[in-house]
Parts: sequence; C-alpha cells; structure tokens
Amino acid sequence: MKVIVVSGCVGTGKTRLAKKLSKILKFEYLDVTKLIKENKLSNDYDKKNKCEIVDVKKLNKFLIEIIKKSKKNLIIDSHLSHYLPKRYVDLCIVTSCDISVLRERLKKRKYSAQKIKDNLEAEIFDTCVIESKEMKHNLFVLNTTKGYDIKQIVSFINS
Ligand SMILES: Nc1ncnc2c1ncn2[C@@H]1O[C@H](COP(=O)(O)OP(=O)(O)O)[C@@H](O)[C@H]1O
Ligand SMILES: [Mg+2]
Repeated sequence: MKVIVVSGCVGTGKTRLAKKLSKILKFEYLDVTKLIKENKLSNDYDKKNKCEIVDVKKLNKFLIEIIKKSKKNLIIDSHLSHYLPKRYVDLCIVTSCDISVLRERLKKRKYSAQKIKDNLEAEIFDTCVIESKEMKHNLFVLNTTKGYDIKQIVSFINS
C-alpha cells in the first residue's frame, strides 16, 4: 500500500494535481477539507479569515487510521498532509507557485486582502517545503506556475 501526500500553500495547485494523479495512478483520492468538515476535526472557525482552525494532532490520528485500514493506495490532498509522520508516507509532493501568479489565483477566489497577504507570505517563506523537510519526507517540489507535464511526474513516481 502506497501513500502520496500533496501539500503546498493555498492556491498552488494541490487539488488539481492530486485529482489528476489519482485518476492516472488509480490511487484513491482523499479530500481532507471534506473529511475535516464531515468528521468535525476542527477546533474552531476563524471568522475573519473564513477558515476552519484544525487540530493537527486529531487530524493526523484520523488520517493514520484511514491509512492503516486502507487496502488501496492513497493520495492525500491537504496543506496539512505533510504533518503526517514520515513512516506513513511514501512520497510528499509540495506544489509551489510564483508569487505574481499566485496572487492572481487567490484574487479569483475572492479572498480578503488580508487572507491573500497571509497566504502569499506563507508561500514566500516556503513554509510547506521547509516543514516537509523538517518532517524528513521523501520530498518532490513541483512549481505549477507555467503548468507541468503530468506524464513526467507519473513516470517519476513509478520509477
Ligand atoms: N498546472 C496548472 N496550470 C495552470 N493553472 C493551474 C495549475 N495548477 C493549478 N492551477 C490553477 O490554480 C488554482 C488553484 O489550484 P488548486 O488545485 O485548486 O490549488 P490548491 O488546491 O492548492 O488550493 C486553480 O484555479 C487552478 O486552475
Ligand atoms: Mg485544494
């Protein structure tokens, strides 16, 4: 059983990549945002930024249970997925995006100016990449600014 986590800052292209990969590789796609809502894995709701405040410990516990029980290979889509311990993860892909393009992507989502600023800062500081390195994951960073060749990524995963 293989587990791929797709992390990265908001708007950098996790969902698009994870869904494509799950289709091609025939891995089961886990939508963590949906799981958090359905299973009440958040502690609170941040009204100002319109997002759930997630208890990462609780989320990890929940995801580890799914991984242990799963008979299928999994692809996990979440900016929190890189917090999973290394022993449960075969590959951690972190999507990234150039700031000017990311700003436009976030604007399209109609986020507040503050939320856009916060998310751009997270990307500027390479937050997900640095944290994934700290977790010692087998890491692959993918810049999605100009698109990518999905076939190349698939052959890298299969190699
Ligand atoms: N490879 C790409 N080429 C062009 N646009 C992309 C690419 N990847 C993502 N995008 C665009 O960026 C936006 C955010 O992508 P999404 O996958 O929803 O990001 P995330 O799940 O990380 O928030 C979407 O509008 C999507 O169409
Ligand atoms: Mg997404």
